[in-house]
Amino acid sequence: MIQGSFDREDWASGFCNVQQEFSSVVVKPVRGSIPPQLSGCFYRNGPGQLERGGQWVHHPFDGDGMITALRFGDGRLMLSNRFVRTEGWLEEGEVDRFLYRGVFGTQKPGGIVANAFDLRLKNIANTNVVKLGDQLLALWEAAGPHALDPDSLETHGLTNLGGVLEPDEPFSAHPRFDPGHHDVPRMVTFGVKTGPRSTIRLMEFATSGADAGGLISERSDSFNGFAFLHDFAITPNWAVFLQNAISFNPLPFVLGQKGAAQCLGSKPGGKAKFWLIPRDCGAFAGESPRIIDGPDGFVFHHLNAWEEGEEIIVESINYSDYPSVEPDQDFRSIDFGLIPEGLLERCRINLNQNSIETTRLSERCCEFAMVNPRNQGLASRYSWMAVTESSVGNAPLQAIKKLDLINGEDCVWSAAPRGFVSEPLMVPRPGSEAEDDGWVLVAVWNGERRATDLEILNANDLSEQAVVELPLAIPHGLHGSWVEAG
Ligand code: CO
Repeated sequence: MIQGSFDREDWASGFCNVQQEFSSVVVKPVRGSIPPQLSGCFYRNGPGQLERGGQWVHHPFDGDGMITALRFGDGRLMLSNRFVRTEGWLEEGEVDRFLYRGVFGTQKPGGIVANAFDLRLKNIANTNVVKLGDQLLALWEAAGPHALDPDSLETHGLTNLGGVLEPDEPFSAHPRFDPGHHDVPRMVTFGVKTGPRSTIRLMEFATSGADAGGLISERSDSFNGFAFLHDFAITPNWAVFLQNAISFNPLPFVLGQKGAAQCLGSKPGGKAKFWLIPRDCGAFAGESPRIIDGPDGFVFHHLNAWEEGEEIIVESINYSDYPSVEPDQDFRSIDFGLIPEGLLERCRINLNQNSIETTRLSERCCEFAMVNPRNQGLASRYSWMAVTESSVGNAPLQAIKKLDLINGEDCVWSAAPRGFVSEPLMVPRPGSEAEDDGWVLVAVWNGERRATDLEILNANDLSEQAVVELPLAIPHGLHGSWVEAG
């Protein structure tokens, strides 16, 4: 039945188990052509296993990670995909049932008795995939990264990144790639250990040269309070964290009633805080972090941040409240009307006055926003993001929007009514100067075909450059990255 711009069955059909693994299969566009200048690999991660022995995950975020690689070169495109061979995925595959509880509420068979006091985590490696040095890393923020072969996607196993990480140390799924604010490009990322006090370990890795993959610098800072930090932002001098006003009551998790993430809730009367940590390569290296009251609402993802004199400006997707998934709810039948929409906001943080000023940049529900990667940490004019078909209210993401962050003008490409978009990735044209010159790559769930299409859009006007109907059904996914051929 069509409700508004979408058919719920079309949308729900995008939650499925991945049935096949392909190795370097040539795929061709059904319309348009692959730009010969696109030379590199588009990696994506997301849940690929959502059911075991007839039992479905409680929330798709509990699904085991499956990597898709779309390799471009000379106007051609090749598809590979492979599950991350995590210990849990292999163990559960042997017996075809869930052996672990999921953070988002998936329970083992056997009810509360079987789940109470089982606090083990299954590292599902499903959130993001990036290349660091000569390894591809499948990331999941509550534990360490899995290393994969960038070409074959074969899993090498958990990695401590050459001795940098302790066993099971949390490692964010949201690294930021500094394009070279301090001479050489870097991957900046973090891990957070939380409790009554929370400690952020900020790490900067080399991404080029003989040291690629090596740790350049790190620092650890502790803050009062429980921290839920999924993402952060960088500027040349700062790492910007927004600590949501969230509390964590672990009791229902310990007792086997809820997943850990279901025990998060808005903290009544709580105040979000910006935790600003000086980067070691910047002008404030070695100084203490700055703590400034943040905006109301809840943020998973930031778009970008930059500096202007005494101000740090950060743009984020803000929800009016934490969107939780209740234990008795089927994620496929959720009422979108009851979930707050994600709205892009700009927050100007004044470091002299310890004050902020927030402005809404768009009223249209959005997620997965990015700027041209060359502008990471710098003022940018344009951004690309996934949005709803309707300009008001919440619904599945069905369209891609290019937004002019200065004058608010936008243009939209839509996959509605039967298409559902995932995170768009902006790839600059090699050698180009213009900020919006390049392409936007996006995997689209095609509800009619019950499979995934790759859309290649021109970044400047979102006109369609090519569409490739992949021989693969990739469930609604999470994050990905572009790795230039080199
Ligand atoms: Co994320």
